[in-house]
Amino acid sequence: MPAPDALAYVRAALPPPPARILEIGAGDGELAALLRTAGYDVTAIDPKGSDAVLPVALIDLDAPPRSFDAAVAMVSLHHVVPLGHSLRRLSEVLRHGARLVIDEFDVDALDERASAWWLDQHDNPKHPADHVAEMREHLYSVGHIRDELAPWFDLGEPVPGAYLYRWPLRPELRDEEERLIATGELPAVGRRFVAIRR
Ligand SMILES: C[S@@+](CC[C@H](N)C(=O)[O-])C[C@H]1O[C@@H](n2cnc3c(N)ncnc32)[C@H](O)[C@@H]1O
Repeated sequence: MPAPDALAYVRAALPPPPARILEIGAGDGELAALLRTAGYDVTAIDPKGSDAVLPVALIDLDAPPRSFDAAVAMVSLHHVVPLGHSLRRLSEVLRHGARLVIDEFDVDALDERASAWWLDQHDNPKHPADHVAEMREHLYSVGHIRDELAPWFDLGEPVPGAYLYRWPLRPELRDEEERLIATGELPAVGRRFVAIRR
């Protein structure tokens, strides 16, 4: 089940149903299932595939030009390779004016304090500096994602927020993460923004 605040963000940012939605990196398909129940026509893709998720990478998506009214990417774009060419493919299948609703983890905002807090919650003995370096080596930053989106999309300003409590989802940690962000003891590593296909 997606975090309630993430689901609320996506529902509030999408056009009303019925609309044709592409979900990129849908994982186990839980968000897609909830959106279908809400009346959307959802195509969910993920190279891993699952019951109602097509086993397809974004770059290989077979869909007519401008066939989607909107797209959702929940903490998936930081994994998508090759990013630039995949986003070009996305730009082809979205109609002009379509919203791309993005919920991301910004690896550039992850510092040793955030990493130490997260590792501690998971009884993980890894050194925070090693963890930060590992994450930065494997994931695209939000800045890089935005640079790669810019040729085809107008970009809204990213809104920073809590994210660590969702990695994996532990709702009971959200209040503490937000309290620590509010006191300046932790950076906000979540980023939400909407991009509009030009
Ligand atoms: C961190 S998971 C997020 C899954 C789900 N959206 C969620 O919020 O639980 C990132 C997902 O992106 C998928 N992914 C990786 N490369 C992809 C690509 N090229 N195209 C589409 N999805 C991709 C991964 O398989 C993985 O399921």
